[in-house]
Amino acid sequence: MSGHADLSGTTGVLGVIGYPIEHSLSPAMHNAALQKLNLDYVYVPFAVAPASLPAAIAGMRALGIRGLNVTIPHKVAVKRYLDEIDPTAEMIGAVNTICNEAGRLIGYNTDGEGFLRSLREEGKTDPQGKTVVMLGAGGAARALGFHLALSGVKRLIIANRTVNRATALCQEIAAGTGCSITATALSDVDSFLPEADILINTTSLGMYPNNNTAPPVDVGRLPTRALVYDIVYNPRETVFLQRARAAGKRVLPGLGMLVYQGAAALELWLGVAAPVDVMKEVLRRHLLAEERP
Ligand code: ATR
Repeated sequence: MSGHADLSGTTGVLGVIGYPIEHSLSPAMHNAALQKLNLDYVYVPFAVAPASLPAAIAGMRALGIRGLNVTIPHKVAVKRYLDEIDPTAEMIGAVNTICNEAGRLIGYNTDGEGFLRSLREEGKTDPQGKTVVMLGAGGAARALGFHLALSGVKRLIIANRTVNRATALCQEIAAGTGCSITATALSDVDSFLPEADILINTTSLGMYPNNNTAPPVDVGRLPTRALVYDIVYNPRETVFLQRARAAGKRVLPGLGMLVYQGAAALELWLGVAAPVDVMKEVLRRHLLAEERP
């Protein structure tokens, strides 16, 4: 167990609000980081039903909680209870991190930054000047799409089962960034693959417990140089990534994005560089344990 015996009258509180929350890996990841950095903070999971969200945020103020992560289903709804929204989070339309600056609550979104850091540091790939095909147009796709456009991709193609959602997201990103973006139906995405430097899955296909599903994409049509990224981290290697690897492509699982979005949050709250290797190791251990029968 973690160092609960070390809690004292000066211990600061961080946490995560969501509903349900009991499967969140963030407490394990953040407490390991706090322990490694020898910081007098604890990170606690809070199950907050939708109707209790305003009271939970009032509670954050009243209790002097320094920082919260925000997860499903509160990422959009929480915005109206905060004092300020960082411009990137405003553009994405969702908050995943709240900083309590002496009673002033500021909302951020570190998902896109987490993805880009993972891509750059683990994938050794800078999206600038690249052609990127992104599968999905939901909440995660919004965060990634804006960040990719702002980081100077040559072309972004968004493919979604519900094509209207892809079109709407493309229009929003294009208006906000001036990037060249194309929307397509997921069923028509294969024709774009020969041009792709990076292919990203942001859909929930392949995610536990639907491990045997995968986006309907012919990864064999990608060029040899292509990097395939799946933001799903449970299972650790999705069927989609297994297929891409079998086709000789470089692959990256979503664990890195989870670690780096958490690292970015920790850096916002405490102004310290997060121990990403420790965080990654803890997540790996937890996911491995979950995979055992
Ligand atoms: P998140 O916030 O995790 O992105 P979301 O907003 O519910 O979750 O988005 C889920 C994404 O996965 C969407 O792009 C969704 O496609 P639709 O917009 O057509 O619903 C995609 N998705 C989920 N299940 C899918 C399936 N069986 N086949 C294809 N796409 C699927």
